[in-house]
Amino acid sequence: MARYHITGGEHLFGELEAPGAKNSALPILAASLLPYGPSVIENVPRLTDVGLTIGILKHLGCGVKESGGAVTVEPGGSDQCGIPREMMLGMRSSILFMGALLARRGCAELTEPGGCSIGARPVDLHLDAMERLGARIDERDGVIRCEAPHGLHGADIRLRFPSVGATENALIAASTARGATLIHNAAKEPEVGDLAAYLRECGADIVSPTPGVYRINGAARLHGAAHRVIPDRIAAATYLTAVAAAGGELYLRGIVPEHIAAVLEPLRFAGCEAEVFDDSVYMRAGGRLSSLGVVRTEPYPGFPTDAGALIAAVAAGASGLSVIVENIFEDRFRHVPELVKMGADISQKGRLALIRGVGRLHGADLTAMDLRGGAALITAALAADGESTVSGVRYVERGYADIAAQLRSLGARIELEE
Ligand code: UD1
Repeated sequence: MARYHITGGEHLFGELEAPGAKNSALPILAASLLPYGPSVIENVPRLTDVGLTIGILKHLGCGVKESGGAVTVEPGGSDQCGIPREMMLGMRSSILFMGALLARRGCAELTEPGGCSIGARPVDLHLDAMERLGARIDERDGVIRCEAPHGLHGADIRLRFPSVGATENALIAASTARGATLIHNAAKEPEVGDLAAYLRECGADIVSPTPGVYRINGAARLHGAAHRVIPDRIAAATYLTAVAAAGGELYLRGIVPEHIAAVLEPLRFAGCEAEVFDDSVYMRAGGRLSSLGVVRTEPYPGFPTDAGALIAAVAAGASGLSVIVENIFEDRFRHVPELVKMGADISQKGRLALIRGVGRLHGADLTAMDLRGGAALITAALAADGESTVSGVRYVERGYADIAAQLRSLGARIELEE
């Protein structure tokens, strides 16, 4: 079984470039099914979830070529609407093919998607949005059958919660629906904006008159386009928190400063020095960090739920009391018992974790249960005394191209053992 072997205690020094954002690349690749003509998506990270998405595109009859960080998608003329259960279960974002299939082929036959277990992850908002756009939906025996034989039409969509995925599905489907669509309470995450930018480059008429609202005038058909994926703010947060926990200095290039502002806040509060430039950040973590304060995860521009576990790993080895309130998912603390094995003092109940920093963690044999929790265990192990192993590598590889090599380039002692 693959695992990371980590010898903690080294300070980390060096430069890194943020990779392309997973959470942009996945919806954009799903949307590339929609245009008539090829799209070239650049800055796509090499992740297992990207591989699964490409697998689905090929299953749907698309031609896909990968070269360097670019993926060229030639949407095929196939009328295949079904995605097999095992492909759907591979990752959560497989559900984003629903909007693209309905819009381009008039039908979609899917199952509930898989993905990391971080609590209930229903798809009701996605289905409501598709129904409003005119799709007929029938759910039976775990299979979701959607049909719009005469095409989709514009609609007024009010999301109960600003779901990232439901906003993305609605944007994709509405971009070629007949007439005008308004999406209210839309997600404001930068990756949603990046998907809208790609669709616009393909000829879609999408405007956001104010954050949280999208107005779409359906185009008859879209053409292919070239698009460069934005930098990954969660990967950036991962390398920043690793340096915060272990101590050292990082010059991180290729970021969008406003995208990482919420993550820098608690790190600065705890004593890290961070200087932000146009598209880079320099961060220095000197002596022991103090409390990271109260961190509440929220929709963007609030603190991202995907960085909550990373902050917990820093707080566990800092000093003072830090508090994490998880407001997005109901079960996002599966890394906590693992941190406790390393000597962390954490009381966690429901959506709240009280972390009393113990100053220094010790190494342990650890198991990642989900992607970001896995990255958090690596972060904690880098800062801990002695040796650790982290198994559950397959979760980590969903979101990081080669996290061990990246961290080694900063001086970390981490190896991937197959
Ligand atoms: C996306 C990100 C994920 C991130 C999350 C929140 C991708 C591939 N994944 O996930 O990394 O953690 O945004 O920023 O982009 N909900 C419903 N009904 C629905 C849809 C969602 O109740 O139909 C709830 C979810 O259970 C959750 C909350 O809404 O409690 C947020 O989910 P959502 O924003 O949809 O997250 P994802 O798009 O799945």
